Amino acid sequence: MSDTQLLKVDNLSKSFGGVRALHHVSFDLKPGELLGVIGPNGSGKTTLVNLITRFVKPTSGTVWFKGKKISHLPPYKIVRLGVARTFQMVKPFYNLPAFKNMIISLYSPRMKQLAGGRYGDRDAVALDLLEEVGFERDAHVAYKLAGALPQGYLKRLELAKAIALEPDLFILDELFSGLSLAEVASIVPIIEKMRIAGKAIIMIEHRLKELFRIADRVIVMNYGEKIADGTSKDVMESEAVKSAYLGTEAD
Ligand SMILES: Nc1ncnc2c1ncn2[C@@H]1O[C@H](COP(=O)(O)OP(=O)(O)OP(=O)(O)O)[C@@H](O)[C@H]1O
Ligand SMILES: [Mg+2]
Repeated sequence: MSDTQLLKVDNLSKSFGGVRALHHVSFDLKPGELLGVIGPNGSGKTTLVNLITRFVKPTSGTVWFKGKKISHLPPYKIVRLGVARTFQMVKPFYNLPAFKNMIISLYSPRMKQLAGGRYGDRDAVALDLLEEVGFERDAHVAYKLAGALPQGYLKRLELAKAIALEPDLFILDELFSGLSLAEVASIVPIIEKMRIAGKAIIMIEHRLKELFRIADRVIVMNYGEKIADGTSKDVMESEAVKSAYLGTEAD
């Protein structure tokens, strides 16, 4: 892979029994690039994330990150190299306060590596990170049980857990789903801040208007295959995309 690539996905495929969830998908990502991934329900978007982060083993194909082959590594080693993801279905520890949910990231091998053994007060770090993603410190939202928080805060908690890992690549699987327009509008500046810090981002989204506005490039999935790859404008104007997706989902 060339020096200008951060991530290279090469011919990635996954079958679950007879279901062809992903079929020969390839693409590259440059450092600092924001790549959108769209496609109808069941088109393979989450499977793609699961294969890159190795939550699921590919049937065939290779993934490279920073010039290293990662498709045979366990997830924690991929995190350690600088890839962090959020989950489409959030599953926090509902019986713990929100800030205690941050221990997953703050006690991870990645954090051990970053902190070099000098952790400081991790509760304080958790509270700072949560404030960064919109947990109002004055209202003590971070101390509430995760189970008592609305979806908007749970999605922010997901994002804070990823930010804590200081990755070079964020993979955000439908971060905006289930959120109001106002909530989405309040999260976009956090994503823009991540970009200013030079982070590469892959955003799986059904919220096309918001995505097209911030993405450098968009790839379109349909029945496990990549059917388009281009700028937001190219993708919006593509006939293949309109018939596969936009006509039914973008209203
Ligand atoms: N663990 C699994 N076992 C069996 N089939 C699976 C598994 N994971 C995904 N699939 C199937 O693979 C296909 C792709 O699913 P995937 O979740 O990747 O789609 P998606 O594009 O993320 O959909 P959505 O927009 O609804 O989140 C679907 O047909 C799904 O049922
Ligand atoms: Mg999905």
